[in-house]
Amino acid sequence: MRFVGSWRTEHICLLLPILLQLLLPVVRSNRAWNQYTPRLQLSHAELRRNSSAIFWHSGEDIKGYYEVLLLDEDRGWLLVGGRDHVYMLNSENLTQTTHKIHWPSGREHTEHCKHAGKSLLTDCANFVRLLQPFNKTHVYACGTGAYHPMCTYIDLGHNVEEPALRLLTNAVESGRGKCPFSPHEPFSARLTDGDLYAGTSVDFMGNNAAIFRSSVHTTSQHYIRTEAFNDHWLNEPEFVGSYSIPDTHSLDDDKVYFFFRETAVESNQLDKRIYSRVARVCKNDVGGKRSLINRWSTFLKARLVCSVSGPGGMDTHFDELEDVFLLETKDPQNPVIYGVFSTSSSVFRGSAVCVYSMASIRAAFNGPFAHKEGPDYRWVEYKGRIPYPRPGTCPSETYDPLHKSTRDFPDDVMSFMRGHQLMWEPVMPIHRRPLFTQINAPYRLKKLVVDRVDAEDGQYSVLHLGTDDGKVLKVVSIPKENWETEEIILEELSVFQSPILSMELSTKRHALFVSSADSVARLPLQRCELYGKGCADCCLARDPYCAWDGTTCTNYFPTNKRRSRRQDVRYGDPWSQCQDLGDGSEEIELKAVYGVENNSTFLECSRPSPQSTVKWIMQQKHSQNTKELVPGEDIIFTKRGLLLQRITSSNAGLYLCTAREQSFSRTLARYELQVISEQYVANTRSIPHSEPKLGGNYASSSLSYKDLQMIGVSGLTPDEYCEQLWYREKRRQQKLRALKWKQTSENRKARVRREKPLSETIE
Ligand SMILES: *[C@@H]1O[C@H](CO)[C@@H](O)[C@H](O)[C@H]1NC(C)=O
Ligand SMILES: *[C@@H]1O[C@H](CO)[C@@H](O)[C@H](O)[C@H]1NC(C)=O
Ligand SMILES: *[C@@H]1O[C@H](CO)[C@@H](O)[C@H](O)[C@H]1NC(C)=O
Ligand SMILES: *[C@@H]1O[C@H](CO)[C@@H](O)[C@H](O)[C@H]1NC(C)=O
Ligand SMILES: *[C@@H]1O[C@H](CO)[C@@H](O)[C@H](O)[C@H]1NC(C)=O
Repeated sequence: MRFVGSWRTEHICLLLPILLQLLLPVVRSNRAWNQYTPRLQLSHAELRRNSSAIFWHSGEDIKGYYEVLLLDEDRGWLLVGGRDHVYMLNSENLTQTTHKIHWPSGREHTEHCKHAGKSLLTDCANFVRLLQPFNKTHVYACGTGAYHPMCTYIDLGHNVEEPALRLLTNAVESGRGKCPFSPHEPFSARLTDGDLYAGTSVDFMGNNAAIFRSSVHTTSQHYIRTEAFNDHWLNEPEFVGSYSIPDTHSLDDDKVYFFFRETAVESNQLDKRIYSRVARVCKNDVGGKRSLINRWSTFLKARLVCSVSGPGGMDTHFDELEDVFLLETKDPQNPVIYGVFSTSSSVFRGSAVCVYSMASIRAAFNGPFAHKEGPDYRWVEYKGRIPYPRPGTCPSETYDPLHKSTRDFPDDVMSFMRGHQLMWEPVMPIHRRPLFTQINAPYRLKKLVVDRVDAEDGQYSVLHLGTDDGKVLKVVSIPKENWETEEIILEELSVFQSPILSMELSTKRHALFVSSADSVARLPLQRCELYGKGCADCCLARDPYCAWDGTTCTNYFPTNKRRSRRQDVRYGDPWSQCQDLGDGSEEIELKAVYGVENNSTFLECSRPSPQSTVKWIMQQKHSQNTKELVPGEDIIFTKRGLLLQRITSSNAGLYLCTAREQSFSRTLARYELQVISEQYVANTRSIPHSEPKLGGNYASSSLSYKDLQMIGVSGLTPDEYCEQLWYREKRRQQKLRALKWKQTSENRKARVRREKPLSETIE
């Protein structure tokens, strides 16, 4: 095959990694790093302890592979599809006694699968991949059946209170074209109006992939599909999502949209490039004529772009769609489409969330077609005559009585459709850039659900993002002037140790259900009380789920029209929301601390949030001037507070620790440091300094920060070291306090003796 692309493009390709490297700082500095630090970070253990997260797993020794979740909001159950089983959990309390169905693959299929060299543990079982509501009482379910896919119904019974769970074993049918053979193949399907639309492969090797429609309620094996092994239709597609979306008020115009990634036929690159796509078919497509019998006659696809523009028009593309979420709006024809993308660039790991309007998707399908004259030509915009009715339009009797069905389309439409599946214009995201990006994070974003949250000052989109290392991020997007938005990571929860496989949002129960290969978790949407104890902490967090109710930071429900509830998502300004803030310094107790000359001391003060910066102000004894401390040889700023090394009498004075976040600053701690002379301590010899535990006598105390970093060798980070140091310091302070008191009282005694030698002294 000859590549007709201009030589310049190819040269740029070779330079691409270098250019990307140069671009990276641009991508990164696009947003301040600060807001990429989660406000709240919870480990798995903390999640179990501090918040009401509930975990569930089947209790069997073997991994459950909980790949599919189906939530019934009204009746309050959660169906979980896993390895050889379907479970029904109570969505309020996952740990309650569960119903389960055992649905293994046939013995002969398991044997065959093993003989084909597949693993019994990870391949040759019935991995349930599809659970779709069918009618009021039945759910349609499909599983891989040890590389022999099968489908059937699950009967939940009529009793809403006490649902039964029964597999209709006599209704088991072939799952070919409905469910993949492999438990690992990306897959998407949607059951609508008794038809199952599925993006899947239909062979053992997974080479023959297509978008299928098969009828579920009839016994007919009839189906319509995209052409097999024709890379203009689909080229090694990996399906991510599918939705049925009405196009107009006419039912005839209803379409099913598929979201996937595939090897790009149109990229001029020498290497294999992956592009993301949106494709659509008409629901009333019954296939075409001649060469299009049982083939879609309305199938069109367009590229989905998610990129960050760089200098000189060099864009960084996030090309690989990982997941889509459809956020419903009041207008059923115009939901908002959210996509998570990643890059496969060798230079950096990156993920992005892009948002698309249905208008922009429709515009691409109504725009020019892409055209390729032959194998040796390159892709161009099609400028020739477009036949009537316009290819991709759904047949509608009311609109044109001559075209009742797709089989009535004229021959020129049919032949046009065979050659033109791809649209020329790509679909660009809203504002032509990602809503959220993460570059070189230790994980990739894999799944998302989006919640639209009503807050005191408007409506906000909250993204719940699942990562490939088992984390769930909660991100809020806050609109600013000029169509800019600000994204804040509110939470980073380490839910599992393996990738997030599925996420379901329950707006009714204010909960998020997430699954992995090992377990399923129910997470409350908010953990307001963990943001901090004060109104300012609650307000600064800017979590639309949370508000200050006068005493605590707690769930915000827009229906509670209580005036005392304080929230400011847009600006996070405590001055406007919280009373009696002052600068806080009057209410903060002044603590006395004692330091020994030529020795060290520690003043405790930790950051109230990762977004705030801490500042230390010092006022020397007998001086009116204050100065801001800067870190140096003898002044070390740690996570826990301030470490003063080799104290001299000039260190004596007042210390003020303040935290600043945005325009809000407050005082966190006040200290008065008094310095005891080294000689005095030496003379009394009463203060055991430290247990020599940390591989070195810290008491000799003049460690530089470099030395502190060296401690890393003994298994402690400088911060951990300082933490230990701080605990020890606390004990020492008690002893020093006693000593100081002794010193002053001895002085006093001496003075008293000198002045009034006969009077009593008070001890
Ligand atoms: C979680 O709870 C533990 C004690 O139960 C506490 O030490 C820790 O600080 C809490 N974490 C957060 C983020 O509040
Ligand atoms: C959940 O169910 C278990 C088992 O029935 C029970 O022990 C537990 O108290 C329940 N938890 C809640 C929060 O209802
Ligand atoms: C739901 O579908 C099942 C399977 O086809 C059928 O047996 C059942 O009668 C249907 N139930 C209702 C309420 O339509
Ligand atoms: C403190 O140490 C310095 C040198 O490190 C020394 O010159 C000074 O005399 C010491 N001060 C006291 C009070 O021991
Ligand atoms: C710090 O104090 C301890 C005990 O009070 C003493 O052993 C040590 O030598 C002192 N360090 C310096 C540098 O004076």
